[in-house]
Amino acid sequence: MSNNNKLLAVENLTKIFAIGGGFSRDKLVAVNRACFEIGSANSEIFTLAGESGSGKTTLARTILGLIEPTYGSIIYKGKDVTKIKDKKERMWFRKEVQPVFQNPFETFNPLKKVDTYLYETILNYDVANKGRDTEQVLKNILNSVGLSLQEIEGRYPNELSGGQLQRTSVARALITNPSLLIADEPVSMVDASLRMSIVNLLKKLKEEYDVSVMYITHDLDTAYYISDRIAIMLRGIIVEMGPVEKVLVDPLHFYTKLLKESVPEPDPDRKWKEEIKLSTFEAEEFARVGCKFAGRCPSVMDVCGKQDPEDVLVDGRVIKCHFYKKK
Ligand SMILES: Nc1ncnc2c1ncn2[C@@H]1O[C@H](COP(=O)(O)OP(=O)(O)OP(=O)(O)O)[C@@H](O)[C@H]1O
Ligand SMILES: [Mg+2]
Repeated sequence: MSNNNKLLAVENLTKIFAIGGGFSRDKLVAVNRACFEIGSANSEIFTLAGESGSGKTTLARTILGLIEPTYGSIIYKGKDVTKIKDKKERMWFRKEVQPVFQNPFETFNPLKKVDTYLYETILNYDVANKGRDTEQVLKNILNSVGLSLQEIEGRYPNELSGGQLQRTSVARALITNPSLLIADEPVSMVDASLRMSIVNLLKKLKEEYDVSVMYITHDLDTAYYISDRIAIMLRGIIVEMGPVEKVLVDPLHFYTKLLKESVPEPDPDRKWKEEIKLSTFEAEEFARVGCKFAGRCPSVMDVCGKQDPEDVLVDGRVIKCHFYKKK
């Protein structure tokens, strides 16, 4: 199938960071030749899951154009958006692909009323003219996320509940009428009891508003509940990808099996602006030749420590694992 039919087609996307510190290697392949597609004729929810430090955020930020890839390409609606130079095109892409952040309290300025911020965003993006038009646009958008204008009008972020504020941040993302939302851990800071209602909102946006979602999470339960397809990432590499019923109900890659048994917690304290310190274990896995999981895999074979596994297609999914390679 041609890339032109896809909403997003990512090919060989790679991000290599230079890292300092004591470990002998000074390069870290945070995203390693990622290949996947999202959406075609129909919108879909595509989940990216994997333990902390597997490269999910780096991948998301690269797609959003916030990090420049080392190599590889990003094709959106048939256009190469890997390195947009043209100002108009950049604006178009920024409207088309919108982020939803982890912490809704960081999305909004604590000193600014939430509705003022939304009005300004509408005007900044030129979505409506000043006046009644803007109000109608805002009402419609809030309505699509299950909020009314009265609920947020005149309020500061800290006067809204975490759930309300995360809905508002989804509303903010919808202002430009995007076709793709990139939601990086959108519910990890929301009260557990409200998580389901927020992920349900993403599902509703897909079904009723034709918005595709790249959903990044540690939480395989919500992933299972809302995703169409899922990709499991390990040390920068997508090791298993396919329909969510297959990958999560009957995982084949030994890492996916492990992940299903021990759901890791997100680590909101990771800050990359400061000096990056990897645990020795993490650094060793990143630097490992062959399969990154070989050191933890119950079915490890000789070849796993020598050769990078190539994609194999097994039972409707793509797996990077020597075990499944045709003999
Ligand atoms: N700016 C940077 N410079 C150097 N290394 C970085 C930088 N940003 C991320 N990394 C490294 O890249 C790897 C992937 O990080 P990333 O934040 O993408 O993982 P993640 O899957 O989003 O983790 P989490 O689940 O904790 O959010 C990490 O090992 C991290 O140390
Ligand atoms: Mg992350």
